[in-house]
Amino acid sequence: MAGEVKTQQNQDLTMVVHFKDDIPWTPTTQLRQIDLADEADVAFMYETRRHPKVAQWLLGNPPASMDAHRQWLKSKVPASRLIYLLIHEGQRAGYCQVYDFTKETVEVGFAVHPRFHSMGLGTEMANLLLPEIGKFRAGRKVILYVRPDNIPAVRLYEKVGFVKISTKTDENGVTLALYEKAD
Ligand SMILES: CC(C)(COP(=O)(O)OP(=O)(O)OC[C@H]1O[C@@H](n2cnc3c(N)ncnc32)[C@H](O)[C@@H]1OP(=O)(O)O)[C@@H](O)C(=O)NCCC(=O)NCCS
Repeated sequence: MAGEVKTQQNQDLTMVVHFKDDIPWTPTTQLRQIDLADEADVAFMYETRRHPKVAQWLLGNPPASMDAHRQWLKSKVPASRLIYLLIHEGQRAGYCQVYDFTKETVEVGFAVHPRFHSMGLGTEMANLLLPEIGKFRAGRKVILYVRPDNIPAVRLYEKVGFVKISTKTDENGVTLALYEKAD
C-alpha cells in the first residue's frame, strides 16, 4: 500500500513525500533450509564441520570426506533432520540443525564458520531458529548438549534462554551439559 509523509519545510511550504512500501526488503541476516542440490550449500557445511575450530566442539566426528558428508546429508535430510544455513549479507556464515525428535524433546545444534565468529551471528542464528521450531515442536522441549568448557557456546545458549539441567559423560569420556529452553 502506498503512503505519504507530510514534512513542514517552512511556514509557506509543505512538502509531501510519497513512498511505496511494496519495495521488497531483505534482512541482511536470514535462515534458509539447506538445498542438497546446491553444491555450494553442501560444500559450505562440509568446510565448516571440518574446520578445526568447529570440529573440536562438535558432538560427533567430522566427516572423513566430501562423499561421506554428502551421503550423511542425504540419509538425514529431511527425513529425520532439518538443516538451515545462516546467510549473512549474501554469504553463507553458519548452519543450525533440528534433530532427534522424541515424544518429549527435540534437539538443536549450531555452528558458525570461524570467518564469522564473535560477530553476534551465533546469537542471531539462535534467535531466528527458535521461533521457527515453535511451528512444529508440538509441546516438545527444545534441548541441546554442549561441553561446559565451550565458553562462547555456553554464553550464547544461556543468553537466548537455555537453562542447564544436568551433565553426563558420553561414550568417549567427554562431559556434556544438557540444556533445555525455558518456555
Ligand atoms: C558457539 C558459536 C556458534 C558461537 O557463535 P558466534 O557467532 O561466535 O557467537 P556470538 O558472537 O553470538 O557470541 C556469543 C557469546 O559468546 C561470546 N564469545 C564469542 N566468542 C568468544 C570467545 N572467543 N571467547 C569467549 N567468549 C566469546 C560472546 O561475547 C557472546 O557472549 P556475550 O553476548 O555475553 O558477550 C561458535 O563459536 C561456533 O560455531 N563454535 C564452534 C562450534 C560449536 O561450538 N558449536 C556448538 C556446539 S554445542
